[in-house]
Amino acid sequence: MNSTMQKISIEKVKESKIDQVDFNNLAFGSVFTDHMLVCDYKNGAWETPKVVPYQPISLDPSAKIFHYGQSIFEGMKAYKDTDEKVWLFRPLDNHKRLNISAKRMSIPEIPEEFFMEGLKTLLEVEDKWIPQTEGSSMYIRPFMFASGNGFHASPANAYKFMICLAPSGAYFSGKVKVLIEEKYSRSANGGVGYAKTGGNYAGQFYPTQLAVEKGYNQVIWTDDHSHEYIEEAGAMNIFIRINDTLITGPTSDRILDGITRKSILQLAEKKGIATEVRKITVTEVVEAAKNGSLKEMFGAGTAAVVSPISAFGYRDVDYDLPELEDSYASQIKKDITDIQYNRSEDPFGWRV
Ligand code: COI
Repeated sequence: MNSTMQKISIEKVKESKIDQVDFNNLAFGSVFTDHMLVCDYKNGAWETPKVVPYQPISLDPSAKIFHYGQSIFEGMKAYKDTDEKVWLFRPLDNHKRLNISAKRMSIPEIPEEFFMEGLKTLLEVEDKWIPQTEGSSMYIRPFMFASGNGFHASPANAYKFMICLAPSGAYFSGKVKVLIEEKYSRSANGGVGYAKTGGNYAGQFYPTQLAVEKGYNQVIWTDDHSHEYIEEAGAMNIFIRINDTLITGPTSDRILDGITRKSILQLAEKKGIATEVRKITVTEVVEAAKNGSLKEMFGAGTAAVVSPISAFGYRDVDYDLPELEDSYASQIKKDITDIQYNRSEDPFGWRV
């Protein structure tokens, strides 16, 4: 892995498209800024990243990304405070996780300087695009994929690392109703569940569509072996509150090491909320729903931050969750977004 980098070149667009964007009505991840970052890996080394106009990329039809899915990504956000200062949240953790995914998918790791300097340069160029409207932020999508050619089922010899930016509003609007999935699995021991690789997400689309047809918004993933242990909520980690204790499953081969997940655990502990990182069974959750001790369930991830669950379905029965005045989900969402938007102290040193 080389780690010395030349100065990043910047090629600007002739005319910005920013005036065409309604910043008061931003959807999630559907409008892209004027520029993007591109960095090529060739002949065993990463070349200096470039900021170029946002544009389609040209790939050979035999590029291995199309055939063998050698691709990984990260999700991050940049936040603009009331003084127009821009903040990132734990960006080095994203860099570390991107390289963990890269290793698992036989993609060359990207040096920290290329990732951080590339990201900062792109954000500086696109400063005007970073929303300041409440509930909005700049969603950042760093990704890497096999651009090298050939049908041989082996790692490619060329890759691209890119970053695109999407000024975005909320990922979900309102609470979600979820279905506990017992047939399909998201991941397996020894598999790629902990890596942010495209196929992990594509593999969810079909089971999720089946759940949507039954009236649910998302699937709750259970372990592939017994379907008895609760693992993730759609593309997010999951938290379950029984009485006053907040529980989430331990990370593993199968569960993504979510940055929001681990931040929530630290924030909850600081607030004096009892937390448990342990395996949690469907039976325990169903029993808790029946006896009234199940208070909350919510998904946690960068895009949605905290996504409260209103009800879950299991074996043709729906279980509603209570409406709480001062839920852990709303308290924690406020605390974490206050840190992210520089509205509060940052006792953990997460803001950059
Ligand atoms: C994120 O929360 O940023 C993710 O990576 C999930 C993605 C499917 C939107």
